[in-house]
Amino acid sequence: MYLLRTPALVLAALVSSASAYFVVTAPKLNDQWANGDTHMVSWVKGALDGVTSFDIEMSRLNSAGLTLIAKNVPSADSSQKSINILLQDVPPGDDYFLLFLNSTHGVMYGTSPRFTVLPSGSASNMSSTTNPNAATVTVSGAPNPTQAFATMFALAESGARRPTLSGGQTWGLTTVMVASLVGAAWTLLW
Ligand SMILES: *[C@@H]1O[C@H](CO)[C@@H](O)[C@H](O)[C@H]1NC(C)=O
Ligand SMILES: *[C@@H]1O[C@H](CO)[C@@H](O)[C@H](O)[C@H]1NC(C)=O
Repeated sequence: MYLLRTPALVLAALVSSASAYFVVTAPKLNDQWANGDTHMVSWVKGALDGVTSFDIEMSRLNSAGLTLIAKNVPSADSSQKSINILLQDVPPGDDYFLLFLNSTHGVMYGTSPRFTVLPSGSASNMSSTTNPNAATVTVSGAPNPTQAFATMFALAESGARRPTLSGGQTWGLTTVMVASLVGAAWTLLW
């Protein structure tokens, strides 16, 4: 299939068509997050890009799997520019990255640089930074797209409906596909 043979192009198209400006400011490349510590995830995005909320997922470059971290993170209000993540029993590895996307239709707004997850109790070379005003999401275990999102924020619009179970499975599959494209693109670009 043509699309699968040119993942970097597909990724570039996905990212550029979705948003003019979306930069993940934390984690930074090769940051070390130890299990048991809480770290801030932060971003800067275009104010007029029309993206009022998005979903955050975590994946790895060298193995399949997705962790659904937070759904419907509000982003219209410029005060919401970060969340905190507490890691628990996440398999150590140096190939983790975060995806910022609409998991309903799989459109990607941005990705974080790759970062490292250390075993519980190991000394990270960075301090554990958090935003005390932002929500903290606990992420446990290995990436597993059949798990529900760890946290689901209420949608700002009234009358918005929560996804049904079957809807959830649909976005899971969509994002697995997107994530594997990202993984492949990374392999090509790195
Ligand atoms: C922590 O260690 C990693 C791997 O050696 C390195 O790439 C990164 O820059 C270090 N970070 C800090 C804040 O020293
Ligand atoms: C994703 O897009 C759909 C359709 O455009 C929208 O209804 C939904 O609220 C969006 N999800 C988020 C998290 O913004």
